[in-house]
Amino acid sequence: MKIYKANILFTKEKNQFEVIENGYVAVEDGRVVRVGQSLAELNVGDAEVVDFGDSLLIPAMNDMHVHAPQYRNQGIAMDLELIPWLNNYTFPEEAKYCNEEYAERMYRRFVRDLWRFGTMRTVAFATIHEQGTRLLMNLFRQAGMGAFVGKVDMDRNCPDSLVQDVESAVRANEALIAEFNRPDDLVRPIITPRFIPSCTPQMLKACGELAKRYNLPVQSHLSENTGEIAWVRELEPQSKNYGDAYNRYGLFGQTPTIMAHCVWTDGEELELMKQNHVMVAHCPTSNLNLASGMAPVRRFLDEGMWVGLGSDISGGHDLSIFRMIVYAIQVSKMHYQKDRTKPFLTLPEAFWLATKSAGQFFGKVGSFEPGYEFDALVIDDSALNHDNYSLLHRLERFIYLGDDRHIVRRFCRGQEISEPEV
Ligand code: GUN
Ligand code: FE
Repeated sequence: MKIYKANILFTKEKNQFEVIENGYVAVEDGRVVRVGQSLAELNVGDAEVVDFGDSLLIPAMNDMHVHAPQYRNQGIAMDLELIPWLNNYTFPEEAKYCNEEYAERMYRRFVRDLWRFGTMRTVAFATIHEQGTRLLMNLFRQAGMGAFVGKVDMDRNCPDSLVQDVESAVRANEALIAEFNRPDDLVRPIITPRFIPSCTPQMLKACGELAKRYNLPVQSHLSENTGEIAWVRELEPQSKNYGDAYNRYGLFGQTPTIMAHCVWTDGEELELMKQNHVMVAHCPTSNLNLASGMAPVRRFLDEGMWVGLGSDISGGHDLSIFRMIVYAIQVSKMHYQKDRTKPFLTLPEAFWLATKSAGQFFGKVGSFEPGYEFDALVIDDSALNHDNYSLLHRLERFIYLGDDRHIVRRFCRGQEISEPEV
């Protein structure tokens, strides 16, 4: 048992922060046992107290959608919409990951930088390459950080170098599943058909069968761009909508499922997502950079949908989920300009999306309530707190102005995580 003392902030409910000034949290076997204002209140007997002084202690960030092999393209190639962007910039970069040396060099930087920005759990796309995917999984494992990592499956409408036949794709998935699919492990596989335009019906069917056979979660992209949606309608004329196309192959909530973007999700597609408890990975920077549109997050929340935030590197340019909180709020304010009946997101709501709401995908993650895995960040904001702000304003300033320099300790499942080697 360990007891940590600090200014504790987290969102048990989406509408407000729990704030415990100079509070205590007791952690045992990776999980929070008690959290409270005094040691007497904790009543957990003798244990070492680690005092973080005047720092803030908050849940760590979760990135629910990111492309690890697009890390080199971060911050470049912002001049095209989705489909030409994929063809001109993204596919050529991902094709390089057949080279294991290149993959390792890039993936090391990627994992180190997730660490820097306090993202302790990640849901990532790798590439079609089995060995590259394995490398990324092992790097997360060595770091002690949590991740679902998907070997990407795709077999049409892309360069030959990224086409993999269904049989080889299934074999590669099964090799990784045999190696990594242990229920309590921090790093696990996730079935990852890239999106409908990249996958033949045979590939989609095989992905659905893998998810079912091994009881594995699924991730993909949904209703991101209007041109993409029109294309899917042509490719899948039997389906009622884009989401239904996944659903018909068992890739839409039959096992826990994350769909990135959902910018244009509405009507029956939205109803199906609700019904099947499919999570939306909201990626505001990506939606802005690729001129995709603005996902209606307030509507998703009002409808009781399950939402998390994603950086979507390199459609998105920013790896920090703290920044994603800011962008999600700002995008919702633009929506508000079109429809004044729907209030924009509040800070606690956006923080909750990034922590407790997203964290559900990993089990009990993203809060400091008893039973939750202790994924936490210690924020030394003394450089930002030169005018004695309240604790809530200190957190807000850190989210809006802070960066990795202010994150001084990081914990995942109770373990302190040191800087991964690059
Ligand atoms: N849809 C299919 N592939 C991708 C990708 O790599 N990034 C984004 N933003 N959307 C996609
Ligand atoms: Fe994406």
